[in-house]
Amino acid sequence: MEKQKYSRRFFLGTSSMAAALALVPSGIKAFYQDLKTRLLPVKSIQTLSLIVNKKTYTVKADTRTTLLDLLREELELTGTKKGCDHGQCGACTVHVNGERVLSCLTLAAMVQHQPVTTIEGLAEGDQLHPMQQAFIECDGFQCGYCTPGQIMSAVACVNEGHTHSVEEIKEFMSGNLCRCGAYNGIVESIQKVAR
Ligand code: FES
Ligand code: FES
Repeated sequence: MEKQKYSRRFFLGTSSMAAALALVPSGIKAFYQDLKTRLLPVKSIQTLSLIVNKKTYTVKADTRTTLLDLLREELELTGTKKGCDHGQCGACTVHVNGERVLSCLTLAAMVQHQPVTTIEGLAEGDQLHPMQQAFIECDGFQCGYCTPGQIMSAVACVNEGHTHSVEEIKEFMSGNLCRCGAYNGIVESIQKVAR
């Protein structure tokens, strides 16, 4: 079946379809264009001002842009990962006003003028954040995809004092999923920084 999709007949079929579309009368094209404009939501572009990792950015973006997409696609801060894009994996965790948030569920427009910290903003120059260092020392990552989100949550876990027991750490960190199963190293890293 798959092979048939790319057969000579397929290419002939698609090219004749393209040729046929070119012959569609302009009145019909205009009709569909009009329909499209009526049915698709209108983009609303807004100028946003964000303070990310202590730097101020002014960007134009659709009002529906998530903080995650704005960080990755407009500001090129790709350390924050897009996993599920539905608030279920924690890969996109950043801090807003020092508190962890899921950037895939946060509109960029909602965090204007508030300090946002991403994984890129944790280190002080060449000096890694203690949690980054602990992840390295305790093998807190394997493939590393979930790591930025895990580290952002881990920092919040320590800052908010949820490190009294392994169970408490696991409960706090339960929104951050790791498909590689680096959980033991992650818990150890948090305990190390909390000591
Ligand atoms: S990408 Fe945001 S929770 Fe998964
Ligand atoms: S280290 Fe691979 S997903 Fe967590």
